[in-house]
Amino acid sequence: MTQEEIKKLVGQVAADYVNTQVPEGATIGVGTGSTVNYFIDALSKKRDRYRGAISSSIATTYHLISHKFQVFELGSLESLPIYVDGADEINPHGAMIKGGGGALTREKIIAAEADIFVCIADKSKLVPVLGKFPLPIEVIPMARIALARRITRLTTGIPMLRLMHNGKPFITDNGNEILDIYNLVIEDPIMLERSLNQWPGVVTIGLFSMLSANLCLLGTKYGVQRIDYEKNHLSLL
Ligand code: A5P
Repeated sequence: MTQEEIKKLVGQVAADYVNTQVPEGATIGVGTGSTVNYFIDALSKKRDRYRGAISSSIATTYHLISHKFQVFELGSLESLPIYVDGADEINPHGAMIKGGGGALTREKIIAAEADIFVCIADKSKLVPVLGKFPLPIEVIPMARIALARRITRLTTGIPMLRLMHNGKPFITDNGNEILDIYNLVIEDPIMLERSLNQWPGVVTIGLFSMLSANLCLLGTKYGVQRIDYEKNHLSLL
């Protein structure tokens, strides 16, 4: 199987999981990325089972609408039974680096409201220690240079402003910029997330250790492996 075929399979297995675990009429939280797009494609076969979706990005909203899902504002919901999203890295405890697609802030807001976070990924994303994938941090543009200096001073990290193909800064759906932090070895994700969260000008850290996954559907060339995690760090928020 190619990597795309594995992602497609994971998307299908995630849709099967949601179709069997989530009651009819529910609203589904939907993340961002190529694996999630396969999930939306697969879930659309049972679209009428659902009231609609909460979307984590403009790109996902377009994809949902193209499949005729109704997209709702998060604030219109009293509860969200499930959130399905990809990851750039996931460690053996379900902590993740996210934000490779730039949607980390809305992803984290939705993850915080969901009863269950299902991570969908191919096996290349499973790592013993987070940090090889550069850690995205969404920042207020005014604070970007000061934050980059602080990161360089206080961590081993090397911050790089995320750019688009045309050389201009990548701007998030919220109008902010992203610093991608290279060269981190994240032995204690909760401590790092807590500490970076305090820095003025930081909007969101792409570390999901306090909002870690409850389960992961991990695609391999032999099929999809389900990993359940014991801890739910929601109480740490
Ligand atoms: C989006 O901002 C990210 O958090 C994605 O969930 C992540 O980049 C995974 O994307 P793929 O499924 O395309 O690898």
